[in-house]
Amino acid sequence: MDAGDARYSAVVDEVLRSRRTVRAFEVDEVPIETVIDLLDVARHAPSTFNTQPWRVHVLLGDAKRELSAALTQAHEAATGSAHAAIPRAAPQEVRARQGDFFARYYATIGIDPNDATARHQQTARNYAFFDAPVGLIFTLDSSLTHHSWLDLGLFIQNFMIATHARGLARSLRCRSCATSR
Ligand SMILES: Cc1cc2nc3c(=O)[nH]c(=O)nc-3n(C[C@H](O)[C@H](O)[C@H](O)COP(=O)(O)O)c2cc1C
Repeated sequence: MDAGDARYSAVVDEVLRSRRTVRAFEVDEVPIETVIDLLDVARHAPSTFNTQPWRVHVLLGDAKRELSAALTQAHEAATGSAHAAIPRAAPQEVRARQGDFFARYYATIGIDPNDATARHQQTARNYAFFDAPVGLIFTLDSSLTHHSWLDLGLFIQNFMIATHARGLARSLRCRSCATSR
């Protein structure tokens, strides 16, 4: 099957349409070979001047458990407010979709949006990678600019699509935002 073949585009379209963020996992283990295979596919992403600036840290077993525990502890100890991923000055339609997301998200998991403690506990789930068997930390060198952030996003999306196409669940969090300023 070649690009341009209707069956080819139908498969790609279906994979793109059916991808979802997953926040609960059934599998306890993913072989490292599978992770390496997925990263090998993802690296075919386009990048500025073909610089491929992404770096990936793969966490399994004790390494993932230890980092999750340290991040959760830091989350519990944090007193300041986290960096806002969407600024107050964002376009109205963006703010409206953010509000819609939170309303649906908390309703789905049965959390009262006015219950700050419950929201805080749910946020902590991010730091435990929602108990996924594999944690991946994607990084860029701090000298790089928004061009490379875009490259990284394309790489991550490649990874997520390849993962979904293999029937593996995945989710993305941008928790680095909280400490990037
Ligand atoms: C850059 C980025 C950061 C995200 N950060 C989080 C996060 O910290 N926690 C979370 O539960 N979901 C996070 N998400 C997932 C989004 O909430 C999700 O993609 C969006 O609600 C659309 O749902 P869908 O992915 O199921 O289509 C993030 C998504 C992106 C693209």
